[in-house]
Amino acid sequence: MKEQISSFDEYQKVYQESLNDPSKFWGDYARENFVWKKPWNKVYSADFEKAKFSWFEGAALNITENCLDRHLSERGDQTAIIWEPNEPGEQHKTFTYNELHAEVCRVANALKSIGVKKGDRVCLYLPMVPELAFAVLACARIGAVHSVVFAGFSSKSLSDRINDASCSVVLTSDGGPRGEKVTPLKDIVDQALESCDCVDTVVVLNRANNDCAMTEGRDIWWHDFIDGQSSKCPAEEMDSEDPLFILYTSGSTGKPKGMVHSSGGYMVYTTYSFQQVFQYKPGDIYWCTADIGWITGHSYIVYGPLSAGATTVMFEGTPAYPDMGRFWDVVDKYKVNIFYTAPTAIRALAQCDPAHLTRTTRESLRVLGTVGEPINQEAWDWYNTEIGGGDCPIVDTWWQTETGGILISPLAGVTPIKPTYATLPLPGIQPVLMDENGVEIPDMEAEGRLCMKQPWPSMARTIYGNHQRYINTYFSQFPGFYFTGDGSRRDSDGDYRITGRVDDIVIVSGHNLGTAEIEDAIDEHKAVAEAAVVGYPHEVKGNSICAFLTLEKHSENYPNLFTEVLDLVSETIGPIAKPERMYIVPGLPKTRSGKIMRRILRKLAAGETDNLGDISTLLNPEVVEAIKSEMGL
Ligand code: WT7
Repeated sequence: MKEQISSFDEYQKVYQESLNDPSKFWGDYARENFVWKKPWNKVYSADFEKAKFSWFEGAALNITENCLDRHLSERGDQTAIIWEPNEPGEQHKTFTYNELHAEVCRVANALKSIGVKKGDRVCLYLPMVPELAFAVLACARIGAVHSVVFAGFSSKSLSDRINDASCSVVLTSDGGPRGEKVTPLKDIVDQALESCDCVDTVVVLNRANNDCAMTEGRDIWWHDFIDGQSSKCPAEEMDSEDPLFILYTSGSTGKPKGMVHSSGGYMVYTTYSFQQVFQYKPGDIYWCTADIGWITGHSYIVYGPLSAGATTVMFEGTPAYPDMGRFWDVVDKYKVNIFYTAPTAIRALAQCDPAHLTRTTRESLRVLGTVGEPINQEAWDWYNTEIGGGDCPIVDTWWQTETGGILISPLAGVTPIKPTYATLPLPGIQPVLMDENGVEIPDMEAEGRLCMKQPWPSMARTIYGNHQRYINTYFSQFPGFYFTGDGSRRDSDGDYRITGRVDDIVIVSGHNLGTAEIEDAIDEHKAVAEAAVVGYPHEVKGNSICAFLTLEKHSENYPNLFTEVLDLVSETIGPIAKPERMYIVPGLPKTRSGKIMRRILRKLAAGETDNLGDISTLLNPEVVEAIKSEMGL
């Protein structure tokens, strides 16, 4: 692999080069670092109006040859995947690159044996078991398009996704153990399939010895499925622009969007960003705690790390089981060097008994990462001091399901870190800030809507079955740019701080306020566990601020909590940002990926109790009633 960027000067130089001549920059990297079956005619072409983008046009490849085959001669016996089960007492598993290659080929051949061909869609609804990684790669091996559905989604969400992509096969398991619970995945699939006509075959992994019904002629056990299959399977020749996978992400309106990712560009960018951001060195143990059901797992558990020849940890369980020390136990167990998680987990862990931390050393850690939402200063400080011991760079990685890979982030140990800032764009990435009127803001110090001026290899190519929606959502508000939907501030150093979704910006008396910023201020209060802030219509000011707080479990009594919080907000941001209304609630409505569903809170703050939208996909739908009653609604 090509040398990583190793100094900030070098970053600045490479960054300039990447913008001056993107074709040379990406062409050189792609040529020198991957195995291609056929070269490209053109590095990239872009039509922002029609939202048509292509990278490495005319080239052919198979991403699994890059994730597996090419490593075998050099590191066939190196561990590719370490799998840590939900139960700490259960034996963990490891797979070398040789073993992983064989497992993937077996599943690929089994898929072929039931008639799956290039271009067919295969739904994967599995817990975080090694077979999920095998299945992802097996689809890619034969050119089938995988659609991984997070194994926490309901049967309704599952059937919507299966139907939207017309999947012909579903791979699932009898049960998915997570924490104390075993989710009956096969039962959920059975229920989902009552409203799907497209599925001919369901393959069921026995993970939990859970009783489940098998439908004659449709369902087959995983062990029978792969029985006798060869451990060699030729890799299908894929055009660089052939779809690699579909992954659904929720929109601000309407049903989830099936984001389609490409083969060549996705491979190149996930590998590049993995190597640069985390500064992975041979021998490092890398652990991303996400689920493969999300883009983070696709790009930074499976494809990026394996293409880079890394050792990647897959964890089946939760941070809270059997207790809040589990992450740190696992870090010590495998001597994890690079640890990548989400702010929501960090906040939860920061709240708990320090004894969970002190029983471990975490001394192997060298780089820490965060992703998914803005990280507040308090959580950042805790992560930095308690987990990193003050000497592990924290990479605050900003990106989206749609972007395929990390776009704005420090490179560990290279880019100067600024707490709560995602800092600077990766080479090849050109962020711009736009004002309300759609005009690019030229000043360095600015705040606006975050857009991308230059295409990058791993951008999603379309929304499955609805290219018009893709154009409308990302390319119509600011013609000539990709619109992220996020707001951002840029400081005098050119560093970016993501302020939250633009729909979360509230304009109070003509002042733009980032709700994340207000939350951050409120979170600083000792008694507050988590805060969510939304705007609601106000006669005079246009909008006003409403805050919802959850309290620390064992926090002392704070008789003046509300005044203290108001003072904090005043001090941190300004009196203008002070919430007009505040409620202490037992929990905040969250999506299964841990994001606060502000949409619901916005409606409640506006006094609307009907039309809350679909709350069935919430992790904790029951809190909605509790919040209503706290608000007297
Ligand atoms: C949205 C994308 C990318 C994998 C996980 C989320 C927010 C993501 C950060 C960050 C501030 C962040 C943005 C973005 N977001 N990372 N480091 N700092 N905000 O993927 O579900 O597609 O969500 O998550 O608002 O638009 P996703």
